[in-house]
Amino acid sequence: MAFSKIDLRNFRCFDSLSIDLSCKSSLFHGKNGCGKTSILESIYVASSGRSFRTSNLESLIKKGAEAFNIRAYDDNTGSILEVNKAKTKPINIKINNSKVTISELVRAFPSFSIDSKTFFYNDNAPEYRRKQLDRGLFIASPDYSKDWFGYFRSLKQRNSALKLGDMAQAKAYDPLLVDHGERLNLLRENLITEVKEIYDEIVSKLTQENKRADIFSDLDIYLKPGFNQQTGLMESLTSTNNIDLKRKITTTGPHKADILFESKGSLIKDIFSRGEQKLLSILWSLSQNIYLGRAFNLSPILLLDDLSSELDTEMLECFLPTLKYIENRFVFSNIVDLFGSKINDQEQSFKKFHVEQLK
Ligand SMILES: Nc1ncnc2c1ncn2[C@@H]1O[C@H](COP(=O)(O)OP(=O)(O)OP(=O)(O)O)[C@@H](O)[C@H]1O
Ligand SMILES: [Mg+2]
Repeated sequence: MAFSKIDLRNFRCFDSLSIDLSCKSSLFHGKNGCGKTSILESIYVASSGRSFRTSNLESLIKKGAEAFNIRAYDDNTGSILEVNKAKTKPINIKINNSKVTISELVRAFPSFSIDSKTFFYNDNAPEYRRKQLDRGLFIASPDYSKDWFGYFRSLKQRNSALKLGDMAQAKAYDPLLVDHGERLNLLRENLITEVKEIYDEIVSKLTQENKRADIFSDLDIYLKPGFNQQTGLMESLTSTNNIDLKRKITTTGPHKADILFESKGSLIKDIFSRGEQKLLSILWSLSQNIYLGRAFNLSPILLLDDLSSELDTEMLECFLPTLKYIENRFVFSNIVDLFGSKINDQEQSFKKFHVEQLK
């Protein structure tokens, strides 16, 4: 499901605001502090019960108000979503008047955000990339979440035994770790292969339109599994027994996985400029969004805050044609109005909003 309209009350700087999201792509533009990030954040909160910026949901309540309220509508299914957050109370989420958990919400209305942290995806710690990868699979595949929970439950117990120095007890969890872990690894690997195919297709089309996009082609993007895949997870766990016992923690396994982006043997983070890194992150997130939509019959909304920061005019031109390849909702923001009338010719289902004029 995807939102066609969203109404806000007492959300950050807005007393009350109604936002039309019925177009495939929507751009919110306006000066600093006009509320662009707040609009994107409200969509993310409505589809995940969390913010992409802060863990303090109370700070999203408009100063002086007691609670914020978000109502979102899906015209296709007739579903109505309601999110309420009052001071000192937990967030309350209802779909068609029935209370839902956050897991149910993220599966019903999936959304992914590309924000300042995602821009420099390759500069972040492996844990960040792993989380991004897992969040997509978690939302899309119930099998994946079963294995994910199974793996991390066993890992926690194995680590507790290692803390007590009890190797025999720690090893008792290995069969479960291997069973869930090998499957996690395969699902992650499959996701990367499939997303890479879509990414390559998009980049090849972009390169035909703008030579500058060539820098994004021929990249090696692959999963580093976190264990020796040739010998398998069981053998890897056994070979690190002594290290694990010394460090009192499991040092090998899918919880150590990473996704690597390389160009001709060098890591992207070491060679790409900031603008190039940002556009690569956008293209990768878009490709993942398309894959999840196609393979799992989802309509994930993609949110991108502050498109043009770090990008020069030519890089922006490079990005422009990607709007044609987007298959799900895409909501993005920018300080200045972008592309003039050019974009309207290329993309019929595109709408621009001047945020100051919405208030
Ligand atoms: N809880 C709140 N109550 C009232 N106003 C708030 C609250 N939280 C944030 N604001 C204000 O909301 C305004 C909009 O913030 P927002 O981050 O959405 O702006 P923006 O358009 O994204 O700006 P920028 O271009 O600088 O990123 C800011 O002036 C901010 O100070
Ligand atoms: Mg902002």
